[in-house]
Amino acid sequence: MTEKLDSIIADYRHNEGNLVSILQQLQDEFNYIPQEAVAYISHSLEIPISRFYGVATFYAQFHLKPRGKNIFTLCCGTACHVKGSEKLIERLQRETALTSTDSTTKDGLITIEKVACVGACSIAPVAIVNKKVHGKANINQLLRMVKAMREDESE
Ligand code: FES
Repeated sequence: MTEKLDSIIADYRHNEGNLVSILQQLQDEFNYIPQEAVAYISHSLEIPISRFYGVATFYAQFHLKPRGKNIFTLCCGTACHVKGSEKLIERLQRETALTSTDSTTKDGLITIEKVACVGACSIAPVAIVNKKVHGKANINQLLRMVKAMREDESE
């Protein structure tokens, strides 16, 4: 982890970066913002740790809790709700034994998250799987993805 963090720090110094870009790089690398990584960077750059958390908690895009290797983000805006997003979520949660409060599988393979409208209502319901947008999502397609992820993991 230290090597990656040193590279983020070097990038910040070289490009006169900002805290958002550091947090974004951390999240890209780890799928969330690890506390120990923030402490390390805060110490190296002599920037108070509170400033990192001030930014991280301001933006909904940042996640402070560990997330799975694969992220299913289901839109729950009005158009997606009308088109059955809640049923997609319930079925996915049943398949992965997750709930709305327990959103990451114990093996760390899958996280299921809900978001408000992502601005693609014309292709509702929308599922974003590992940053790829799937319009008119259906449960068979999502379950096939879960199956493929499990198979990849067990190889
Ligand atoms: S409500 Fe889901 S994209 Fe707008």
